[in-house]
Amino acid sequence: MTDALALSHDELAALDEPRLRTAIPGPKAKAVIRQDDRVTSPSLPRAYAFVPDRGAGSMIEDVDGNDFLDFNAGIAVCSTGHAHPAVVEAIREQAGRLLHFSASDFFLPIYADLCERLDEIAPMTGPTRSFLTNSGTEAVEAAMKLARHRTGRQYFVSFVGSFHGRSYGSVSLTASKAKYHQGFGPLLPGVVHVPHWGEPESIDYLEQVVFKRLVPAEEVAAIFVEAVLGEGGYVFPEPGWLPALRDLCTRHGILFVADEIQSGMGRTGKMWAVERYGVEPDIVLAGKGLASGMPLGAMMARGKLMTWPMGAHGSTFGGNPVSCAAALATIDLIEKELLANATDVGGGLLRDLIALRERQPLITRAAGAGLMIGIDLASPIVADAVELAAFHSGLLTLRCGDSTIRMSPPLVLRAGQAEVGVRIFDEACRMVAERGPEAFVRAGEHEAGPDVPEGA
Ligand SMILES: Cc1ncc(COP(=O)(O)O)c(C=O)c1O
Repeated sequence: MTDALALSHDELAALDEPRLRTAIPGPKAKAVIRQDDRVTSPSLPRAYAFVPDRGAGSMIEDVDGNDFLDFNAGIAVCSTGHAHPAVVEAIREQAGRLLHFSASDFFLPIYADLCERLDEIAPMTGPTRSFLTNSGTEAVEAAMKLARHRTGRQYFVSFVGSFHGRSYGSVSLTASKAKYHQGFGPLLPGVVHVPHWGEPESIDYLEQVVFKRLVPAEEVAAIFVEAVLGEGGYVFPEPGWLPALRDLCTRHGILFVADEIQSGMGRTGKMWAVERYGVEPDIVLAGKGLASGMPLGAMMARGKLMTWPMGAHGSTFGGNPVSCAAALATIDLIEKELLANATDVGGGLLRDLIALRERQPLITRAAGAGLMIGIDLASPIVADAVELAAFHSGLLTLRCGDSTIRMSPPLVLRAGQAEVGVRIFDEACRMVAERGPEAFVRAGEHEAGPDVPEGA
């Protein structure tokens, strides 16, 4: 039987308001959660009981036919919105032509096309080369290997509060939550963590503590830095910090690796967040929004750095042709339309959230750029409760940091949708203030398991 209320793709994309038709979660969602609970890895960090079925633009429908306004975008991945027709068409065309042939052993034209396109948009002057991966963490691993190989140095520096991934090398750089390391030690040796991400104190700490007392600067291969803290709380650095870090790297011959896996691909209204600070990295890492949801990452390096010999690094699937096709379509859309949209719509969204902070005591900070916006709540349990209350009213957001809710909607978000999102968020805060956070968090535990929301 056809569902008389079912919307076409275009009708779904045109919605500004969520449309909830069952209790949340609905019966089909509950059945999926029960099945999932039996057979999937319990390590998967689930935020709440959302069970997606299909999406269009900034709207996403669950398996019970409930339409949600999506300010999460699959953790900042669906950059061009759900199922953008141009991206879907590029994927279809490529899938019908060639699904796979490994660029590690042969010459894949679309792999080179994408590396060429990445060179055009890279935030550094001079030629670049790229190594393509299936994920963000693999791009981080590739950069760690290239940095050691190229410099002959063994140490890495990263920052307390940062997230760089979960495989052994990248999780050794990660220092946002102890649980990512718990039970997994020993980690990769040779990583030094520096406090005060984003603040001038960290530059002094590097010179006065790290290089004087821990490891000599001339043995440090690379400093890995998120240009904007993602999982660590959607925090932007002080304006002079990245340039000071760049100078420090240049002084000591250390490679500056910008992890733009979350902050890149137009998320902040610039193609790369480092552009906001006038900094040129030596290596840039991309992932998440690069291919609108197809699995793809990139390690882009200055051409003169990427001199490792044939066979030094490769990947069976990395740079899969279908993912490359999606990325080429994604980059075109971001360049032509979505940087401007992220700036315009994100600017209005942030303005409204700052106004909301003025009148809503549960909110202690609203800050961001483009469509990368963090809202700090009074405490972790309040943040959990507001996230859940918003979900039950049809708005998807995601926790990060200690008590931050991140807003990372698709870059196609419309002003009308942004206004609706702020209204629902406002109502969610008011409900939590009235009823107390425990009421919401208990309900959430019941639905999605007792773990605290995560997701990077
Ligand atoms: C800044 C940053 N680096 C690295 C990663 C790891 O990417 P992935 O989950 O694709 O391995 C993430 C996200 O998870 C991230 O936000």
